[in-house]
Amino acid sequence: MAVLVTGGLGYIGSHTCVELINAGIDIVVIDNLYNCKKSSYDRIKALVGKDFPFYKVDIRDAEGLQKVFDKEKIDSVIHFAGLKAVGESVEKPLEYFDNNVTGTLVLLDVMRKNGCKKIVFSSSATVYGMKNISPLTEDMEVGGVTNPYGRTKYIIECMLKDISASDSEWSVCLLRYFNPIGAHKSGTMGEDPNGIPNNLLPYIAKVAVGKLEKVNVFGNDYDTPDGTGVRDYIHVVDLAKGHVKAIEKLDTHPGLEVYNLGTGIGYSVLDIIHAFSEACGHEVPFVFAPRRPGDIDICYADPEKAATELGWTAQYDLKKMCEDTWRWQSNNPDGYRG
Ligand code: NAD
Ligand code: UFG
Repeated sequence: MAVLVTGGLGYIGSHTCVELINAGIDIVVIDNLYNCKKSSYDRIKALVGKDFPFYKVDIRDAEGLQKVFDKEKIDSVIHFAGLKAVGESVEKPLEYFDNNVTGTLVLLDVMRKNGCKKIVFSSSATVYGMKNISPLTEDMEVGGVTNPYGRTKYIIECMLKDISASDSEWSVCLLRYFNPIGAHKSGTMGEDPNGIPNNLLPYIAKVAVGKLEKVNVFGNDYDTPDGTGVRDYIHVVDLAKGHVKAIEKLDTHPGLEVYNLGTGIGYSVLDIIHAFSEACGHEVPFVFAPRRPGDIDICYADPEKAATELGWTAQYDLKKMCEDTWRWQSNNPDGYRG
């Protein structure tokens, strides 16, 4: 039996495919290639030295999904497919609700029709909203989200909770990611955003490689030690390994569980710029800029529940996260297009 990985050629999905295969788990990947390159498939295969099936399918396409279920033996799903740009979601809320919420509804319906009732879902720390105080624990109230992207994650969490309450055959794992960064140590796979990056690490990497002039540090008057925003950055390979643990948990654990995937350590924007400067061997230039609307001062996880119940703890430190990002960026200045 295989795990169906939706959005499996994207940033987190591709790293998770490598870890699943390395753990001896069979996978089938679908992706509509909206935010990734097909060459990501070749790079995964080259890294693991194994072939696996890939289908270009949109999760909103019930017939296309059914064909995959007809052809493959699938007994669980890791669901990454979705749109993820916070700013874009404010401008195009309908597209985000359609892709993320409708897409997940179609996927869940096809799963149910095929008797496949195990799912790991990519949620986000964004569901904790603005009011909860870090360290964030899974039992805190969620939903105070400030943008349509975050609302899609919250709505999908609610859908999965309701489904699991209605039918005890479902096993559901909601994984709330903190800030995934880094790349595979080989330097052949990493994050490759289209256009100018919205997130801090890809932006810094593009400055370091000379494609952008300087980093804009959004706000230096937050209530944090150096005044800049604090986040819980986690190596994407650590995150990927968390999915292997989660999928193993589903096999023995019906019902619904929620886990934070973070390190429990908060770093400021300036900490990250300095660590990256060390990793790339030259100073990364930056300027202070106004706060970005919707940003909070501090966000980091309490990772204890995942440690106790999944036996998962992040292994890689900030130095390694920056070194691996730099290896990927400097080897592939044009990402997967290169
Ligand atoms: P990504 O954009 O690199 O990967 C998502 C993949 O899904 C892409 O390859 C895209 O082509 C595919 N996709 C999108 N819509 C699809 C559809 N309708 N049908 C089929 N494929 C579709 O993003 P990522 O960073 O790897 O994120 C993966 C998941 O994790 C997303 O759901 C995202 O919201 C969530 N997440 C990401 C972060 C982060 O900072 N990267 C943080 C929290 C949660
Ligand atoms: N920042 C800058 N300059 C930049 C980009 C970001 O100073 O050019 C700052 C932000 O203000 C924030 C920190 O760097 O203080 C991190 O910002 P990111 O945009 O990298 O990440 P966020 O914490 O804002 O959000 C990310 C994802 C969300 C997800 C959230 C929690 O973008 O989708 O982590 O998982 F919901």
